[in-house]
Amino acid sequence: MSKYIVNGGKKLHGKVVVEKSKNAILPIMAASLLVQGKTTITNVPNFSDITAMAKIIESLGAKITFASGNLTIDATTLSDADITCEEAGKIRASVFLMGPVISRMHRCKISKPGGCAIGARPIDIHLSGFEALGVCVQETQNEVLCVLDCFSGGEITLRMASVGATENLIMCSVLGNKTTILHGVAKEPEIVDLCKFLIGAGANIVGEGTDTITIVGVSKLKPTTFTPIADRIVAGTYMLAVALCGGRVQICDINAGHNQRLIDLLARFGCKISCKSDRIYMSSSGFLQANCNIVTGPYPEFATDLQSQIMAVLAGADGVCTITENMFESRFKHVAEFNKMGANIVVHKNTATIFGNSQCYHGQNVKCHDLRGGAGLVISALAAKGTTIIDQIDYIGRGYENFEQKLDSLGADIHRIEDEEEKHNWY
Ligand code: EPZ
Repeated sequence: MSKYIVNGGKKLHGKVVVEKSKNAILPIMAASLLVQGKTTITNVPNFSDITAMAKIIESLGAKITFASGNLTIDATTLSDADITCEEAGKIRASVFLMGPVISRMHRCKISKPGGCAIGARPIDIHLSGFEALGVCVQETQNEVLCVLDCFSGGEITLRMASVGATENLIMCSVLGNKTTILHGVAKEPEIVDLCKFLIGAGANIVGEGTDTITIVGVSKLKPTTFTPIADRIVAGTYMLAVALCGGRVQICDINAGHNQRLIDLLARFGCKISCKSDRIYMSSSGFLQANCNIVTGPYPEFATDLQSQIMAVLAGADGVCTITENMFESRFKHVAEFNKMGANIVVHKNTATIFGNSQCYHGQNVKCHDLRGGAGLVISALAAKGTTIIDQIDYIGRGYENFEQKLDSLGADIHRIEDEEEKHNWY
């Protein structure tokens, strides 16, 4: 595993261009299997999750080319309906392939997705939705087998606004001649982007971004080229880094409206933020006052994927705050690492109480437990007095492109090193 070495205390200045959204691209890659032809997704960043998804899609028989940021998926013919290759067990997004594969192949087999560092990640909402649409679902201990005789369409209410289940059920309903109405759906910008892609390819979808989405099946989708939205979680991560370190940064190629909750909070803490059509100008003294109670929830509530990063900032601000994590049952593994660096955070059930202190952070050896927790540790390390070594940073590469290079270009002192023992192995 690689490591970061961070010498903290530097203010951040300059301009950062935010890459396209991992959580928009992954479902769009899955949806491309509904097109009997070529789909091109432009400006695709080099995330390891996207590479893994491409390998899974190739294992199903599609042809993939990736050149100068453009990812082309040719799903003219598919040869397999088993989402069981080794890569499929590595990323949650493999589950998003179920809807398109069932629709296209009338069957699908998937290894049950394991839990991960942030929670058990069940797929019961996906499976009960498929059953309501006429899919026969058989579960064994390790696998799920879906068989579709006749797609019925129907009207479904999700028991909770699951992002992945919303996406899967939309994709399962796009082809055919039936109507599906989904209530209680997730409203994330990434779902709106998936629908925008599908509509551009000829799908008949209305209501995306609201509580109810209606899909009227069409006979086929046409080849299309699509540019996804910017990654609002990556944008929020850079905003939080500037807030804690201090400085003045332009954060470019984004839709500020996708981070309104965060912008409102940072302004309350003392940051100066002005939003333009495709960028945010942001400055901070690095000395923040924060007394707030944050609760994560489905969009447009505060994003769970920014929970660890804002916790890093609150621990380094003056004041007392709480964060209640409502989306995942074990998404506080980063707390112990922050406390090693001098933070004072106490967790009770799903609420963390942060006793903030602007002088608290000092360099330490810490490690990442998951993608967003790792990003939070980088933010703390950038502001800490002294040197921090962050281990297991491969997690961060799952959702941030050229992270250390972009931070370095803003004036941070951050370098990647390969683990010494890995080098010995290499020799
Ligand atoms: C998506 O995961 C994102 N991943 C996650 O981002 C994000 O945190 C999450 O949505 C919530 O916004 C991708 O888009 C690839 P959910 P997903 O289904 O779809 C429970 C990141 O860091 N649930 O909305 O898996 C589930 O256990 C990642 O980029 C069920 O109980 O999230 C969780 O507690 C992390 N049964 C909650 O719902 C189900 O059938 C929200 O999950 C499905 C979900």
